[in-house]
Amino acid sequence: MEKLLIKGGNVLDGEISCSGAKNAALPMIAATILNNEKVIFKNLPYLQDITTMFELLGSMGADISLDESMDFSIASNQLNDLEARYELVKTMRASILVLGPMVAKYGYAKIALPGGCAIGSRPVNFHLDALKDLGATISLKNGYIEAKADKLIGADIVFEGITVTGTENIMMAACLAEGRTTLSNVAMEPEISDLADLLNKMGAKVQGAGTEVITIDGVQSLHSTTHIIPADRIEAGTYLVATAVTGGKIRINSIQPERLNNVIERLRMSGAIIEVEENSISLDMQNKRPLPVDISTSPFPGFPTDMQAQFSVLNALANGDSTVQENVFENRFMHVQELNRMGCNISTEGNTANITGVNKISGAQVMATDLRASASLILAGLVADGETIVDRIYHIDRGYERIEEKLSYLGADITRLPS
Ligand code: EPU
Repeated sequence: MEKLLIKGGNVLDGEISCSGAKNAALPMIAATILNNEKVIFKNLPYLQDITTMFELLGSMGADISLDESMDFSIASNQLNDLEARYELVKTMRASILVLGPMVAKYGYAKIALPGGCAIGSRPVNFHLDALKDLGATISLKNGYIEAKADKLIGADIVFEGITVTGTENIMMAACLAEGRTTLSNVAMEPEISDLADLLNKMGAKVQGAGTEVITIDGVQSLHSTTHIIPADRIEAGTYLVATAVTGGKIRINSIQPERLNNVIERLRMSGAIIEVEENSISLDMQNKRPLPVDISTSPFPGFPTDMQAQFSVLNALANGDSTVQENVFENRFMHVQELNRMGCNISTEGNTANITGVNKISGAQVMATDLRASASLILAGLVADGETIVDRIYHIDRGYERIEEKLSYLGADITRLPS
């Protein structure tokens, strides 16, 4: 298995651009199932999760090709196998995103039930309840969800709890349902609005995405379009924190800064000087040690759970005490034990991590457990004395495009070790 070797101590300094957002791209690729024609994507990130989504659609009969400008063209209009098998679903829970589009377009879907994962049990009951409200019949058998519907019918749906991929799944399904659907208690993450933008460009009628209520008027069919995947706000946030913990300076281009308001505010509280322009963020930590900042995660516009592990590292190195509360997933502190092995002082109690900042940490061989936990271990490695080896970096490759190249470019000493 490949590993990352990091020699800590370098101060990051430089300018980078962000890649396309994984969590915007995944539902968009699933949305091609709704379409009668091909959809062309620009700026798709080269990530393992995107490859898995391609494999999934490919296994069902989609035609995916890459043209000379590196744009992907996806035609999912003639799927001949309406089953998402366990072998693929178990490697990526976001595979569940094909459920809504398949039932809406083909009247049938058989999808392996995603199990729990490192960050929590992550059920999909909200997706299934909402799909039933649209008129689908759902049965669970042999570890698979089987969903059927002659025709989905628009409905007023109130989600029992806020779910990002659940909102996306049902928003997509409702595009081809008969009549009007209103979705309440929905997720308001920017990726929801991104998906609505694509759906509307394909001819759907989605309004209110990004607010508390989404209204969708069903249409008969959707048509071809070309779409640019927006920049990854979590990737941007990760590089900002990486730079802050090293005391460095960075400018991140091609992003939508307003999507990171919460992260920017916390970084300012930790002592960073931040300048925001229309499509860029500049951070200067002026070689200072960060101040501690309390964090409490919640759905957008709250502080993103996908930035919790990175801020835990910042706090672990800060001058003082802090608490980090994880309110979205029940088990997202898997990085804590590994960080403590490097000399951090973090104790957890239920969904709260109590952190006492330390001045120095030391390199160690550590193991990644999920995507953002892996990112946090890399951040710690950038600061630690000596060498850090991060194992199981396939987690990182699921969500960060060329991370060692981008960090090296900023001045880090980081190398990928072959397996
Ligand atoms: N939940 C349920 N029932 C459901 C759905 C969710 O109880 O039917 C619970 C979950 O167990 C969790 C909470 O609701 O405790 C929120 O889960 P959500 O469904 O919103 O998460 P998700 O859609 O599976 C997406 C991102 C995650 C991100 C979360 C929260 C994608 C592909 N994934 O997951 O991204 O952490 O929203 O913002 O969009 C990552 O990129 O590292 C990542 C994990």
